[in-house]
Amino acid sequence: MYLKFVLLLACLSLAKATNQVRYDNYILYKVHIKDAADLQLLNENEKALMLNKWRPASRPGDSADIMLSPQHHVAFESLLHSHNVSYSIKIDNVQRLIDEQRPKQRMSSMEWTQYHTLDEIYAWLDLIEARYPHVVTPFSIGNSHEGRPIRGIKISYKPGNSAVFIESNIHGNEWITSATITYFIDELLVPRNPAVRDIAQNVDWYIIPVLNVDGFSYSHNVERLWRKSRLSSDPTGECVGTDLNRNFNYRWMEAGASADPCSQHYAGPSPESDPEISQLTSYINNSIPEGIIKIYISMHSYSQLVLSPWGHTAEEFPPHYPQMMGVAKGFADAVSRRYGTPYSYGSSAATLYEVSGTGKDWAYGVKNITIPFTLELRDRGEFGFLLPPEYILPVARETTEGFVGLIQAARGINVL
Ligand SMILES: *[C@@H]1O[C@H](CO)[C@@H](O)[C@H](O)[C@H]1NC(C)=O
Ligand SMILES: *[C@@H]1O[C@H](CO)[C@@H](O)[C@H](O)[C@H]1NC(C)=O
Ligand SMILES: *[C@@H]1O[C@H](CO)[C@@H](O)[C@H](O)[C@H]1NC(C)=O
Ligand SMILES: [Zn+2]
Repeated sequence: MYLKFVLLLACLSLAKATNQVRYDNYILYKVHIKDAADLQLLNENEKALMLNKWRPASRPGDSADIMLSPQHHVAFESLLHSHNVSYSIKIDNVQRLIDEQRPKQRMSSMEWTQYHTLDEIYAWLDLIEARYPHVVTPFSIGNSHEGRPIRGIKISYKPGNSAVFIESNIHGNEWITSATITYFIDELLVPRNPAVRDIAQNVDWYIIPVLNVDGFSYSHNVERLWRKSRLSSDPTGECVGTDLNRNFNYRWMEAGASADPCSQHYAGPSPESDPEISQLTSYINNSIPEGIIKIYISMHSYSQLVLSPWGHTAEEFPPHYPQMMGVAKGFADAVSRRYGTPYSYGSSAATLYEVSGTGKDWAYGVKNITIPFTLELRDRGEFGFLLPPEYILPVARETTEGFVGLIQAARGINVL
């Protein structure tokens, strides 16, 4: 009986593994863009060589991280050579890193030494909700397209605090974000140093560890690099998913978003077309007292950046831009103190690339939240989305210190 059960489990996990999309011998290149012609070269060959841009470049001087299948290596490298474009190979076999992220033995408890599934994260939320009932208030903003609850917690030690709102893993493949934010939650509940105790007790924290629950589950079960939601708005039925961080109702589809359902940056057929976003914004509108949220943070990876509005234009800056940069500096300086990890900061259009319909721009443009950031955690493209699990603790620790610096800087200018 017992043996049968074990065998059944073995078969199930085998079946699960064989259904997964594989990336054997896919290569991740870092390509150095020296001028507009290089950018154009990449754009012209995107379709033919099936360039998968993990990180697009937007301007000369920048570099792009691009994944290619084994069938296209030779053509791609000779294209780059013939146009004098310099490049290096960052990952020589993407599948190897994917395999290394799957623990040989799953730990049900959270130790931040491996990446956890949604079920494991939710089981942990159950645990802390039961253990810290006076501090933790669970909430759910509703269900995802595929029917999974989208859970969050509010951490509050006393009435009268201003609040920080954090959404994480809005992109399914950015596993380091929920790994980091769950560690941060643990720190807020059992502060190990006085500075963390201070920001735990004197600020209310609304945190959704995994916003894109469908995309995150799909990334675990089927396609490790899955970014978007799982709602199909494609009339042909060929392509699935909306880029949820292009789906907010502010300057929707103005820049850096795509109307093509097959694009990684598909903004959806209309603003808030996806339930994950419409329910997030109505939760913020209707369930959190107006004006209480002073800081909005959208957790992403990778690039080591603090990005502020605006996304749609690099020509204009929001009225609170100087305050935003002061707080971004507070974060960046504190992060670098521990392991020397460098962060850059600026508006997303001026620093990374143009983008619209994002959470942070909505938070500022619609909700008047003074400090709205996208955080791009480690790294800068050595491993990209496939940051090995031994980096979880360092990233989580330095980000916790970054949050301390961020809150202190915000207090310094009376935002909190
Ligand atoms: C390529 O770069 C090399 C060295 O930087 C230079 O000598 C050569 O003229 C360049 N070729 C083209 C086609 O730009
Ligand atoms: C949320 O509130 C803003 C104004 O604060 C409003 O423009 C927007 O339509 C509201 N959205 C939802 C989904 O309730
Ligand atoms: C945000 O600020 C603008 C300009 O000061 C104001 O017109 C708008 O009503 C404010 N919106 C909210 C939701 O407070
Ligand atoms: Zn992202």
